[in-house]
Amino acid sequence: MLNPEETRQLEYIEKLKKIVGDKERSLNRKLTCQVTTFGCQMNARDSEKLLGILKTAGFEETDSDDADFVIYNTCTVRDNANQRLYGRLGALKPFKKKNPEMKIALCGCMMQEPTCVDKINKSYRFVDLIFGTHNIFCFAELLVKMYETGERITEVWDATDTIAEQLPISRKYSFKSGVNIMFGCDNFCTYCIVPYVRGRERSRKPEDIVRETEELVKTGVVEVMLLGQNVNSYGKNFDEPVSFAELLQRIEKIDGLERIRFMTPHPKDLSDELINVVASSKKICHHIHLPLQSGSSKILKKMNRRYDKEQYLALVDKIRAKIPDVSITTDIIVGFPGETYEDVLDTIDVIDKVRFDNAFTFIYSKRTGTPAAAMEDQVDEACVKKYFDMVLKKVQDSARERTKRFENTVQTVLCEEVNESDPSFIDTRMESNTVVHIKGTPDLIGKFVKVKLTEFHGFYYTGEIINENESGQNG
Ligand code: 5AD
Ligand code: SF4
Repeated sequence: MLNPEETRQLEYIEKLKKIVGDKERSLNRKLTCQVTTFGCQMNARDSEKLLGILKTAGFEETDSDDADFVIYNTCTVRDNANQRLYGRLGALKPFKKKNPEMKIALCGCMMQEPTCVDKINKSYRFVDLIFGTHNIFCFAELLVKMYETGERITEVWDATDTIAEQLPISRKYSFKSGVNIMFGCDNFCTYCIVPYVRGRERSRKPEDIVRETEELVKTGVVEVMLLGQNVNSYGKNFDEPVSFAELLQRIEKIDGLERIRFMTPHPKDLSDELINVVASSKKICHHIHLPLQSGSSKILKKMNRRYDKEQYLALVDKIRAKIPDVSITTDIIVGFPGETYEDVLDTIDVIDKVRFDNAFTFIYSKRTGTPAAAMEDQVDEACVKKYFDMVLKKVQDSARERTKRFENTVQTVLCEEVNESDPSFIDTRMESNTVVHIKGTPDLIGKFVKVKLTEFHGFYYTGEIINENESGQNG
């Protein structure tokens, strides 16, 4: 059943089809579109929705910058994402001069920041359409308005209660997909802009998530990644609360679905129930991405993370006791205000004790409007660089050592794509998320195969298929 907003947007898609059709006839060619994603998996999923609408309306997808419609789905979690956007945008201007049909649109997290929108409205006047994260479901409606009026449109909302998910979607992979289970974040970590640009937490109904996943499986999806800024808060605000662990159990029952992943649980409220469900599941990958951010209890407190070093270490011990083969990956921020050499040593101590399978290390980026941006003890650049190098070396050593544990073992991998540098290889992924390159042909893509991991390359493996007929990861 469609909700009223979904019905309304589908009507706009029909109008858009007509506009695109008329343009095709007058230009005597197809219109092209390019969708570029910055940032996280949530944005990647949102971009699939944008592309789904564009393709349904008649646009043809292209990689090239001279498309008739270019949209950048932006990220603002760190300043370097903002700077990359401005760089890309500047480079588009000459294309727009050459092609009078060209329209340029911006959406996503950066557009929720009034200072960014002001800057674009002043310095990048050639942008035709700006909208934010809350009204992304109005994309078709906004496009119709842009083409019909021929005017620049800026429409950014502060919040929304609407969830309109049953609209066209064009997936990047046929065999795996993200599934949004909730939107927004209420945690307000003091460095983080997400609660301001993505709004308050809203969970989708479990039956809607299950139905979407069932539909995906019918079209050939074997792996889903359940997406939310803090999946542990899932379902807490329902009249009859449903825990994330319960949701996982419902999704696990779907026949034909082979692998379930999720992103991201917050260490402060990762429940025993969740650990038990992951431990006993045949489908939920034994891989937990558990953002540490800092190993120093003093910094964690200033970050408003609501756990300390000892609690994080105890949680990891508990997870490992129940799921001995688990891969644990993490995010670490270096250079948070007030961070000293001793604090960095605490982070390194946690890395030494946990032995992460992989870690993303970020330099703290000051985000206007967050509490941390107003803190007085910002760390100087030279110190941050030194701390960053120390942490990076440690996480790389840890990742290399942990990944090596799989050498010469036999693993079930999901074949994902043709290797970019050598097309005779296929890039595949283990349950732990470790990448394995195998000799093979594109017909393997989307299939599970058993491989022997023959050669270790630091962070990934080369492997050999040992049984090509293997089809189910648990079979
Ligand atoms: N500076 C640096 N890294 C940040 N992250 C979030 N906000 C910031 C910031 N202001 C990192 C966190 C989070 C990941 C998605 O991005 O580590 O887990
Ligand atoms: Fe940002 Fe913290 Fe929410 Fe993650 S949990 S999105 S780091 S505020």
